[in-house]
Amino acid sequence: MAAELIDGKKVAADIKAGLKTEIDGLKAQGINPGLAVVLVGEDPASKKYVANKQKACEATGITSFSHKLPATVSQQELITLVDELNNDPRVHGILVQLPLPEGLDAKEIMNRISPQKDVDGFGPDALGKLMLDEPGFISCTPHGAMKMLEAYNIDPKGKHAVVVGRSVIVGKPLAMLLLRKHATVTIAHSRTPDLKDVCLKADILCVAVGKAKMITGDMVKEGAAVVDIGINVTPEGKLVGDVDFPAAKERAAYITPVPGGAGPMTIAMLMYNTVQAAKMAAGMKVEV
Ligand code: GUN
Repeated sequence: MAAELIDGKKVAADIKAGLKTEIDGLKAQGINPGLAVVLVGEDPASKKYVANKQKACEATGITSFSHKLPATVSQQELITLVDELNNDPRVHGILVQLPLPEGLDAKEIMNRISPQKDVDGFGPDALGKLMLDEPGFISCTPHGAMKMLEAYNIDPKGKHAVVVGRSVIVGKPLAMLLLRKHATVTIAHSRTPDLKDVCLKADILCVAVGKAKMITGDMVKEGAAVVDIGINVTPEGKLVGDVDFPAAKERAAYITPVPGGAGPMTIAMLMYNTVQAAKMAAGMKVEV
């Protein structure tokens, strides 16, 4: 039986509509959520992501502060900009688009972002809080993956979740979030022996590796929920995930498409985190 599509675009649109209403209410109280977006260089994919993030700001009513810098910018200049944004009360969230051009130390830049404005959730404060099960900014892609499961009533409790990919920004935090929801979690990666056998045990299979067709149809358990977090461009210029979608959808019960799954959800959760940051700055109670 063909799987039900998990429509990330629709779930994201619903979240953004809810945020717009909330933002209208905040504005009536004099709170204007603001997001600074920093783009360094001319990477075409990064330019597109940043444009989509700014479009979402416009749609929800978040003020976006755009900083476009040449690839020749120095580390010190970038640090100075982050410091300025850290001190700007109009800016509640700071997003420095990754990857940064060669020669720049991304880790130092990301760690410079104030924990109160780290809406990407990439810094040590956010990641430490996630590990400790304390409230904090949750990085947007894993958070979006969890929200898609929730929207389709896929409860991780009692299930075996396999996360393929161990990145600091997706795989590791997603494993922690699934664990928080009482799944039994396996983290697999490119060097896992017998990856197929591991994947076949997954009731929930989440893939964030960045390799087209990393997961073939025969690696998907019948009835599984498959969350594809990869974004790859084929030689023909087509956008695809890490999962062989046509084959996997014949075995899965639920599957996210690429595009239209994890991508729009990441942006919706960025808007969510920015609203939480603005509320926190105003001394309001938040759910992060
Ligand atoms: N590059 C690709 N995805 C992301 C993201 O979610 N945040 C940032 N800062 N850079 C990215």
